[in-house]
Amino acid sequence: MSIFPVYIVGAGPGDPDLITVKGRKLLEQADVVIYADSLVPPEMLDCCRADAEIIPTADRTLEQIMAVMLERVRSNLLVVRLHDGDPSLYGAIHEQITALVEAEIAFEIIPGVSAFQLAAARLQVELTIPELVQTIILTRISGRTQVPEPEDLASLAAHHASLCLYLSARHVEAAEAKLMQHYAADTPVAICFRLGWKDEQIFVVPLAEMAATTQKQGLIRTTLYLISPALNRLAGKARSKLYDPDHDRLFRPKPAP
Ligand SMILES: C[S@@+](CC[C@H](N)C(=O)[O-])C[C@H]1O[C@@H](n2cnc3c(N)ncnc32)[C@H](O)[C@@H]1O
Repeated sequence: MSIFPVYIVGAGPGDPDLITVKGRKLLEQADVVIYADSLVPPEMLDCCRADAEIIPTADRTLEQIMAVMLERVRSNLLVVRLHDGDPSLYGAIHEQITALVEAEIAFEIIPGVSAFQLAAARLQVELTIPELVQTIILTRISGRTQVPEPEDLASLAAHHASLCLYLSARHVEAAEAKLMQHYAADTPVAICFRLGWKDEQIFVVPLAEMAATTQKQGLIRTTLYLISPALNRLAGKARSKLYDPDHDRLFRPKPAP
């Protein structure tokens, strides 16, 4: 038995200040930090102890990562496995969880800010505007990893939701064609490159220009697309019931007449 669980921590999208307080405290205390160096900026590790062992994993296999993780935690070291964004989204943690369960090692997951949340913040929008759009879809297009057929992008586009498209820049022409089956050609799309990194770039273009803009800017990696009617500031004049003076709420009952 090990003293500590393995802590799987979400680092957020890039800005070192966007990690949770709990995640940051664990990074400060960790004996060992095993981190996804292709997606987590090195500045994230500035708060680590000078004697902490820092292990980048971009060039390692799952077996190599698990071997070092299990060895260190069994040596009663505090191990942080640091993933970009929120670990529950395209984080490849399922296979690590399976291996930890098989090894009978306890673990705890500390959530992080996902790329789509920083995109909405940068764009200064709400993705769920009353009477305009009330659903957010987080998805990707098939690449080396196949998306199950019932989740095909064209069928998800039919919902006209706020759609956040991960891991799709290499296949942007196919993505645009599928989205155009249901969204209007002038639906705003935010193309968000390396949000929270020093070279962050955001382009807001009509859907019909999504692929051309991506290719012109040479974006291949670390790009999130946000396709949503909510990006049009003038759309959706309806307001929420939450702060409506005519709406009786548990915490703000209407004054007696
Ligand atoms: C392996 S997935 C990890 C997603 C991550 N777990 C999250 O919650 O944001 C990597 C993809 O997420 C998106 N992504 C992650 N970080 C990003 C960032 N800082 N800026 C833009 N897109 C990002 C891109 O679509 C990228 O291809």
